[in-house]
Amino acid sequence: MTEAPDLYSDAALDHLTRPRNAGTIPDPSGIGSDTNPSCGDRTVITLTIADGRLRDVRFRTFGCTAAIASASVLTELATGLEADAAVQLMPADILRALGGLPERKEPCALMAIGALRGALLDARVRAG
Ligand code: FES
Repeated sequence: MTEAPDLYSDAALDHLTRPRNAGTIPDPSGIGSDTNPSCGDRTVITLTIADGRLRDVRFRTFGCTAAIASASVLTELATGLEADAAVQLMPADILRALGGLPERKEPCALMAIGALRGALLDARVRAG
């Protein structure tokens, strides 16, 4: 497990100022969202799947720096994975990719994972 830094890492701040894959896919294979009940912040993820693999993953986050950085880096981690592998991504994968988050902000990474899993489930339901 990555040790929690006191401040945001350079990687987290880079994702905040240059978010990757921000936006919404107009006709996605699946859409999912999650809300942090402690603050009301929200992340929505849309994705496309072709041949069982995530081809495009986009996010919209209405939330804090940690929530935006987590969703942004998660789109990078998930893109190109098979759906069965993407559903196994964990908050620890986000923390590792960001070089950690301040400890009080670690729960914010959960929201991105919840939205991704919701989108993968939605895609499975839509595909029948
Ligand atoms: S403070 Fe709400 S998700 Fe981070």
